[in-house]
Parts: sequence; structure tokens; C-alpha cells
Amino acid sequence: MGKALDGVKILDFTHVQSGPTCTQLLAWFGADVIKVEREGVGDITRGQLRDVPDADSLYFTMLNHNKRSITIDAKHPKGKEVLEKLVRECDVLVENFAPGALDRMGFTWERIQELNPKMIVASIKGFGPGPYQDCKVYENVAQCAGGAASTTGFDDGPPLVTGAQIGDSGTGLHLALGIVTALYQRKTTGRGQKVNAAMQDGVLNLCRVKLRDQQRLDRTHVLEEYPQYPNGHFGEAVPRAGNASGGGQPGWILKCKGWETDPNAYIYFITQAPVWKQICNVIGREEWLTDPRYATPKARLPHLTEIFDEIEKWTMTKSKFEAMEILNKYDIPCGPILSMKEIAEEPSLRKTGTVVEVDHPTRGKYLTVGNPIKLSDSPTEVKRSPLLGEHTDEIMKELGYTDAQIRELHEAKVI
Ligand code: COA
Repeated sequence: MGKALDGVKILDFTHVQSGPTCTQLLAWFGADVIKVEREGVGDITRGQLRDVPDADSLYFTMLNHNKRSITIDAKHPKGKEVLEKLVRECDVLVENFAPGALDRMGFTWERIQELNPKMIVASIKGFGPGPYQDCKVYENVAQCAGGAASTTGFDDGPPLVTGAQIGDSGTGLHLALGIVTALYQRKTTGRGQKVNAAMQDGVLNLCRVKLRDQQRLDRTHVLEEYPQYPNGHFGEAVPRAGNASGGGQPGWILKCKGWETDPNAYIYFITQAPVWKQICNVIGREEWLTDPRYATPKARLPHLTEIFDEIEKWTMTKSKFEAMEILNKYDIPCGPILSMKEIAEEPSLRKTGTVVEVDHPTRGKYLTVGNPIKLSDSPTEVKRSPLLGEHTDEIMKELGYTDAQIRELHEAKVI
């Protein structure tokens, strides 16, 4: 079966995590992604966090599936010639260098336009135009500057970063959408365009609900769905809400049987209003149904802590999976806290291709996260990441170079 992005050629100048996440998605949808790396060095992540000596790290392999790798010295005049040919041939250039690096290489927007006016140039930077536009940025910096850290954690603790890579992979996702949107618009305009996604903006987009709450707080000086209500203190900024959902349906993480020894024996429990009766029945607190302090969602807000304490007395008598089974019978929204070990071993995720086992020539078999976006007419096959420069000769031949020319460029360490 064909793929959604068959025929789209991507010149992939990305490295580390944010950019590679984007181009991996495009490759999974069928684009021909040509990853340009430095000869002998490659993407720095190939050698970072290595668990198998001399083999590409999981950091690299898990972000670079389905791509081809070519090594080119982009600063050598002959390397620039090769790159110029690639710019003419490709539809999209994707990069996440530090600000100004692509220009310093000689590939300004104006130069790229001269070479190929149809080219889409997609970039990730830490910040958009403004005071920090020249800064280098990694994941946690973006989480801090995008509003996630100040709103994550508990009220009595410091700001916290989350394990979900919302700055890197989150911005990669945003950029991928920008690229396919620009490809779509090119169908009518015939022109390329610049697509920029700043990590601060991407994180803030994912923290949109917290900007909502900031404005509610400004107006009413209180957030009734937050654990600080009714006895705690509200300052000027949205506080950290612990495990509260903060939305219209109050939720919290509750202990389950075995929590004393298993750090993940917990369940997320949501006291959704339409199933309040079922919740009271399941935990044996039928009297709450008629007690005016618990009868309506609004009345319950000042009592959420004691409500969750009571529900926890019930969840502590069940394993997280037993609790799930019982609560789901009554449509009570809840979710087990799954460890990475449990996720890796979960058969249903293997079945859907969300967790995939891949074989690699130097590191052997490993697990990766497959494409989380499933297209019925464009199924994803996860193919191992390329070795450094594995496709250099193949791509050079496609560009019209002869065997002798390729040999010469290898000897000069240009490719
Ligand atoms: N041939 C020759 N030179 C190459 C090359 C190639 N194939 N590929 C890269 N380079 C050069 C670049 O031109 C640059 O040179 P310059 O500084 O002389 O202009 C240099 O390698 C390093 O690039 P840089 O992006 O500065 O890497 P870094 O390791 O110092 O910084 C980041 C890494 C991630 C901090 C930085 O790239 C960045 O801020 N990126 C944007 C935000 C981002 O995506 N962050 C998240 C990453 S997960």
C-alpha cells in the first residue's frame, strides 16, 4: 500500500531530539528523509547514553527510524555543492541548529529561494523573536520558559519538569503539522515558505489551560478546583496543583493495594459528576447522595480532600487493575499509573504498533515507540535507523555523481 507522503523529499538537517522527532514522523508517513550528518561524528546523540559499546545509542535509534543518512561537510565548498543539489531536489529542509547556524553555513532563506523557490524551510528554535531569540535551548529550558514548570509539582515544593518531552518532541509535532500544512498550501501557491516553531511557544500551547486559569485567578482571586481551595493561599500567579485535574471534573492520584512497596501502585480517580451516584455506591458512602455538603459538584469543591481520602480507603483495598475493572463497569473515569516496564510488556500496545520491536545490525533487538498517529490508508512500518553515512554513496549516485567523483570526495573527507 502507498504512503500518504510518498514522493515528498526531506533534507533533514536536524539533530538531538526536537527536529528528529518531526522528521521521523514525516518518514513514517512515507516521506524520503535524507539526514545530513558530519563525517565521522554524526548526530551527537549517536554516542550519548550508550548502553551497548560502539553501537548507536537508543537515544539516536529511537528518534531516527525510516531515514537515510548521508555524511557531508557542510562548510567545505565541495560539500556545499552537494547540499545545493539536494536543496534543488528536495521539497522541505528541516533544521534545529542554534540560531544563525544555517545562515553561517551559507544557506540563508534568500539563497535557498534562489536555488528552489518551492522549498519549505522548517526550523525549530528555543524562542521566537524577542529577548531570548539567540539562546540555545534544551528540553527543560523550554518547559521552564513555556509555563509548564511553574504549574507542575506541589504547592509546598519547587517547580518541576515533567518526563514527557513536551519541549522537544512536542515542538517536533507542532513543526510536522506546520510542514504538511505548508505542503498543502504550496499546491495552490506553487511557492515554498518558512515554517517556524519555537519551543517556548510549543510548550505554552500545551499549557493553554494554565493561561486560562491565570485569567480566572486575576478576576476571582481563587481557583475552586485547585487543592489550595478553600483553606490554602492564592498568590498572583497560577499555583502548582499537585495531581488535581484543575478542570471541571476533579481528580487525584490515590494509593492502591501494595503502594507501600510498589512505587506505581496508584490509580488516577476522577469524580465525574454524572457518575457521582455510582462512586458513592461503589465505595459504600450512599449517605453522601443526600448530604447537602456532597450532593452537587459545586458543594463538593471545598470537600475534595476529604472525599479523595475516603475514596482512597476503598482503592487501597484493591490492586490498581482490580480497581480499574470495578470502576469501569460503572463508567467511572480512572486510569492505572503504569510503569515503563508495564508499558513495555503490554500486549495490546504491541498489537497496535505503538510499541515495536526493531532489529539493528550493531545493537540487536530493541523496543521503540511506533507511530502514535494511525492512518488507515497509510500504515506505518517502523524501519531501523540508518548507520552513519549508510546511504551516502546511494544518494550521491541519485544526484548524478560518478563513482570516481564519489571516491574523490570520500578521500577529501567532504562526504
Ligand atoms: N557540516 C559542517 N558543520 C556542521 C554540520 C555539517 N554537516 N552539521 C552541523 N554543523 C555545525 C553547525 O553549522 C554549527 O556551526 P557554527 O556554530 O560554526 O555555525 C555547529 O555544527 C553546531 O551547531 P549547533 O546547533 O550550535 O549545535 P550545539 O550542539 O552547540 O547546540 C542545541 C545544540 C540543541 C542547543 C542547538 O542546536 C539549539 O539551540 N537548537 C535549537 C533548539 C533545539 O532544537 N533544541 C532542542 C534540541 S533537542
